[in-house]
Amino acid sequence: MKPMNLMKFVDQLPLMNTAKPERKSKKESYYEIGMEEFYQKLHRDLQPTRLWGYNRQFPGPIIDVNQGECTQVKWTNNLPNTHFLPVDRSIHHVAHQPEVRTVVHLHGSETRPSSDGYPEAWFTRGFKEVGPSFERKIYEYPNHQRGSTLWYHDHAMGITRLNVYAGLAGMYIIRDGKENSLNIPKGDYEIPLMIMDRSFNEDGSLFYPDKPNNPSKNLPNPSITPAFLGDTILVNGKVWPYLEVEPRKYRFRLLNASNTRAYQLYLDSGQSFHQIGSDGGLLQKSVHLKKFAIEPAERVDFILDFSKYKGKTITLKNDLGPNANPDDNTGEVMQFKVSLPLQGEDKTVIPKYLSHIPSLEQNNEVKTIRNLKLTGSTDKYGRPLLLLNNKAWSAPVTEKPGLGSTETWSFINITGFTHPIHIHLIQFQALDRRPFDLDLYNQDGQIVYTGPAIRPKANERGWKDTIAAPSAQITRVIARFGPYTGNYVWHCHILEHEDYDMMRPFTVINPKELDDK
Ligand code: C2O
Ligand code: CU
Ligand code: CU
Repeated sequence: MKPMNLMKFVDQLPLMNTAKPERKSKKESYYEIGMEEFYQKLHRDLQPTRLWGYNRQFPGPIIDVNQGECTQVKWTNNLPNTHFLPVDRSIHHVAHQPEVRTVVHLHGSETRPSSDGYPEAWFTRGFKEVGPSFERKIYEYPNHQRGSTLWYHDHAMGITRLNVYAGLAGMYIIRDGKENSLNIPKGDYEIPLMIMDRSFNEDGSLFYPDKPNNPSKNLPNPSITPAFLGDTILVNGKVWPYLEVEPRKYRFRLLNASNTRAYQLYLDSGQSFHQIGSDGGLLQKSVHLKKFAIEPAERVDFILDFSKYKGKTITLKNDLGPNANPDDNTGEVMQFKVSLPLQGEDKTVIPKYLSHIPSLEQNNEVKTIRNLKLTGSTDKYGRPLLLLNNKAWSAPVTEKPGLGSTETWSFINITGFTHPIHIHLIQFQALDRRPFDLDLYNQDGQIVYTGPAIRPKANERGWKDTIAAPSAQITRVIARFGPYTGNYVWHCHILEHEDYDMMRPFTVINPKELDDK
């Protein structure tokens, strides 16, 4: 595949639409959102691209709610019965199932299992078929949690990478009173940004590989690939767009919605990002950064101050980090043109102190510690098969935290690269990362540390639901499991890994109920 030579910064950044509820009161809102196939122009010089999107939009509409407003969404599938991307039938969960299945997960949300988008709770067009032992259901999001930037995306077993790549992703914002009371940029000056990479064919259609780069013989056709890096960067559904801004402060809620690609972002003006929030909402204190890394599914909420850059053009750049490829174009993301006249004085501030984050580590509760290995093996076709604790998705549940209990999960990465690990239902706190000798581990299975445990970076010291677990390190997180019991999942958020087979169920159990039986 030769990359398309698309001109950069010729299209304006689209601002995502906000979804309109069918009904809304102070306490409740009700939405109907359908998945459809449609065509959309993603670049000035590209023909319209076939996409699958929520309400015929790519990205999907923003669901914007207040804390405590119970939101119901009727998600419907109006998609064709055949996929336009290569479905690998050799993945065991996929073999005998309908080709196009969908289920929506609200990433980062504290939701009952029946509304969480369990990968096997998929449904087909018009709810004709529903995953075995699941029912058709209107999903309910209590929105009890603190203000945060969440996102919703497809999570169907074994084809999540294809459904999300086709366009099934959108943002979800919860607002709370504390955050609203801060004097930070709001309204037109608060802009969500969804970054993703794609590749295109000459005719404007999406390109997604139907086999790995170095295919061995006798691979299934099509075959899943262990990673996917697109050669083109899109923001809010446009290729390398620009945004015209006033010389003042703006707030950006940035999400990495790419399948595999991690970014390290910086501005060519040399100015700082003032990060105010992470996955689970506001940090305790704002953090000033010249550069930050963002793994798939992570969110970084930051303020940029353009007041000293009137007339200037600033490029948001990516220094490629772990996904470096010298002959590609992905070192640039988008541009800010400080070309609009200032509409009234900018009275907003970048607060030093933002919110209180109680430490879970210091709460003196008895804590279960789970050692969870991120492991690699090979399947019968010679393809890499990444696993959690050497177990496939279908193995019986091994993680059963008690309702309301606090647990430490240690992700021991014995593979050669970083995995962004995500846990459903809860927001966790990062404790530390500690390096160990991987060669030694591979020889005799012993963990020998090569350095002290290192505290998470300043911008990771808030609530998180996804965290980078680097190779040859033990990454520890702590969480309280609740407020619901039932079946959830945890997984690597590289979608090519999650689909095969780096995802595991976990069950929150109620110890009292166990006693009763
Ligand atoms: Cu964003 Cu289980 O995923
Ligand atoms: Cu999730
Ligand atoms: Cu992974």
